Amino acid sequence: MLSKTTTLLGLAALATAAPTDYPHPPFTTSNAFRLVVNVTDISKYPSSSIHGSEIYAYPIPSNAARPGLAQRGAGNIFYQWHDPTSGIRFPEFGGQLLTEGLRGPDTVMGLRQAIHEVGDHRILMELDTTRAVDDRLADLSMQVTPSAYFPHVAAGELSGVRFSFAVCEQKVYVPKQGELGFLGLEFFYTWSSSEPIPEGCVPARLIPECVKGGLHEVPAGSVAERYHKEAKEVRCYEDVSAIEWEKYNFVY
Ligand SMILES: *[C@@H]1O[C@H](CO)[C@@H](O)[C@H](O)[C@H]1NC(C)=O
Repeated sequence: MLSKTTTLLGLAALATAAPTDYPHPPFTTSNAFRLVVNVTDISKYPSSSIHGSEIYAYPIPSNAARPGLAQRGAGNIFYQWHDPTSGIRFPEFGGQLLTEGLRGPDTVMGLRQAIHEVGDHRILMELDTTRAVDDRLADLSMQVTPSAYFPHVAAGELSGVRFSFAVCEQKVYVPKQGELGFLGLEFFYTWSSSEPIPEGCVPARLIPECVKGGLHEVPAGSVAERYHKEAKEVRCYEDVSAIEWEKYNFVY
């Protein structure tokens, strides 16, 4: 028993040791962050305004909110909460990314894949409030990487499969206005790294930018209260727009 505990602690220590031996942009930590969209191949999309925008929760009538784009500084404030069932056994994993809706701290939403695919290996992302038995609001695997030189939101790992986020042209139906074009966050997977990203999509990473002062207060008794209390410190950058990416070689 004792040796098992020691091993686990040892692993945790390794995983959280500050990396210094590989050139990477400096980061700090916070329990609140915005998600900055970083187009991973800017040379292919030079005129895109997607790069540097932030993830914002757009309410969609009678559906889960859709993560779309907002200007720098106007994105939702996210925090990372750990599912108690997996988070205690594996403190480095089991994180969920949560945020609150326009209606405030009684609407807690989690970032996750929508059930339905939209084809071409594309899966919609959504921000849902639905609660499962174990309080799971979001995808467990979607969290800020705990032990990397480049903190970013991991899209998930599975050997032989490539996962990525993408910003894609979507259509949403808005009552009285009809179908409108929308740039939405999606999840993209392939079994071959050479497979091109689908038409109408731009591959992107989500980079956490720290919110100064951390997570805001919410009223006692609100739905968000307990999640805020248990929000984790995660690695994030003070100013993503100031990072000179050309100086670094991204490693996962
Ligand atoms: C961010 O985008 C730049 C430009 O496309 C790229 O060079 C860099 O590797 C990206 N960083 C991450 C962490 O995705």
